[in-house]
Amino acid sequence: MRVSVFGLGYVGSVSAGSFAADGHDVIGVDVNAEKVAAINAGRSPIVEPGLDDLLARNAAEGRLRATTNTAEAIADTEVSLLCVGTPSRKNGSLDLTYLERVSEEVGAALAGKSTYHVVVVRSTVLPGTTHGVVIPALERTSGKKYGDGFGVSVNPEFLREGTALKDFRKPPLTLVGHNHAADASGTIALYQAIDAPLVSTSIRVAEMMKYTSNTWHALKVVFANEIGNVCKKLGVDSHEVMDIFCRDEKLNLSSYYLKPGFAFGGSCLPKDVRALQYRAKELDVELPVIAQILPSNRQQIQNALDQVLDTGRKRVGLLGFSFKAGTDDLRESPIVILAEALLGKGVSLKIYDRNVSLAKLVGANKEYIEKQIPHLSSLLCNTIDEVIDGSEVIVVGNQSPEFSDALTKTRKDQIVIDLVRLPIYGSLLQAEYRGICW
Ligand SMILES: NC(=O)c1ccc[n+]([C@@H]2O[C@H](COP(=O)([O-])OP(=O)(O)OC[C@H]3O[C@@H](n4cnc5c(N)ncnc54)[C@H](O)[C@@H]3O)[C@@H](O)[C@H]2O)c1
Repeated sequence: MRVSVFGLGYVGSVSAGSFAADGHDVIGVDVNAEKVAAINAGRSPIVEPGLDDLLARNAAEGRLRATTNTAEAIADTEVSLLCVGTPSRKNGSLDLTYLERVSEEVGAALAGKSTYHVVVVRSTVLPGTTHGVVIPALERTSGKKYGDGFGVSVNPEFLREGTALKDFRKPPLTLVGHNHAADASGTIALYQAIDAPLVSTSIRVAEMMKYTSNTWHALKVVFANEIGNVCKKLGVDSHEVMDIFCRDEKLNLSSYYLKPGFAFGGSCLPKDVRALQYRAKELDVELPVIAQILPSNRQQIQNALDQVLDTGRKRVGLLGFSFKAGTDDLRESPIVILAEALLGKGVSLKIYDRNVSLAKLVGANKEYIEKQIPHLSSLLCNTIDEVIDGSEVIVVGNQSPEFSDALTKTRKDQIVIDLVRLPIYGSLLQAEYRGICW
């Protein structure tokens, strides 16, 4: 491929050198003449292990050069990567000045080009930026229409400074967000030599991915530090704890518990988070992130409550009562809390959960219903149909496999609020479908 790289900072110079090493013809572009001169002299404009050698070799072998001239770079290439900075403003918002300017400059150069050109956004930008800032700037100055004279894709960078060359060579995945197949193929062709799974998605999902990943990484760091701070006070070796923690790839380091949906509950998670927090308080250890776990969980119950109340309907059916499918444990079930809040707002309720019926319950669970929530036990129905037939709004509270089938019997005048992303998501229901956070 013939590729131009706009912005020769950390991302741009690593990308330029690495693509050149893979046999592509690369032109680096920067407004900073010193960075351009450095690349042309085979020197790295940034400190990054191995980058000096990589740039020197590829510049000497003629696969890499740099310029301050945008028009020349666009005329001589078929794909352009935008790698300019997107720094924070004082209030935390993204400063898109550089991105908008480089898009205008690339657009102006595209005005004089007759062949299709793909512009790849590699800078980190929030969802909506490519459609709201980059494409309008390109259209404004090129006089061409997106998808006609030029294409656009989003290809976030996952490298870490200090190990950037290795990360470029072996990224966790290559992500290409696009709305047109031609734009994807132009971008994917750059990565033929890279050994990583290729994930193709929409532009907005690709934009959001980078923020989701980086926020997750930041959360991991502060979580580990907070656990470490408690461990130190308890005289426990935090590294041994986290080494063992990381060996659990089933629940700890896995996709488990990472699907947006409803609040957690049950007899363990809320109790144990509370107990750790209480102990930390006794030890005078601040846990700002861990302290926000239960409030965040309560907020998700409030969000579900608001969504039901926002329908304005007064007859509500709950499918699922225990905190997850396949159990009769009602302790700290977020659906029980939701049910109580709905009753408090004057909503009439019908509830179905095949594992929770007074006739079947024994021991602690029966006692829990009779002592703690007697006002809810009378609302339990024996069949799903009873709940579906008699409700204006049906709230799905757990992943019980029978719910998807049952919901095919809903009517046009009903609303289904899905808190768990049932497999019926996206399929045609008679009722109006609403997801709690999708
Ligand atoms: N640094 C990282 O490790 C990293 C990793 C992944 C993603 N990112 C993202 O990549 C983007 C770039 O980050 P960076 O750290 O490489 O930035 P940087 O500040 O190091 O480099 C940006 C470069 O863009 C140049 N530039 C600005 N306007 C230009 C224009 N109109 N034409 C040509 N060049 C122009 C600047 O002179 C500068 O050399 C950011 O959005 C960042 O969030 C950075």
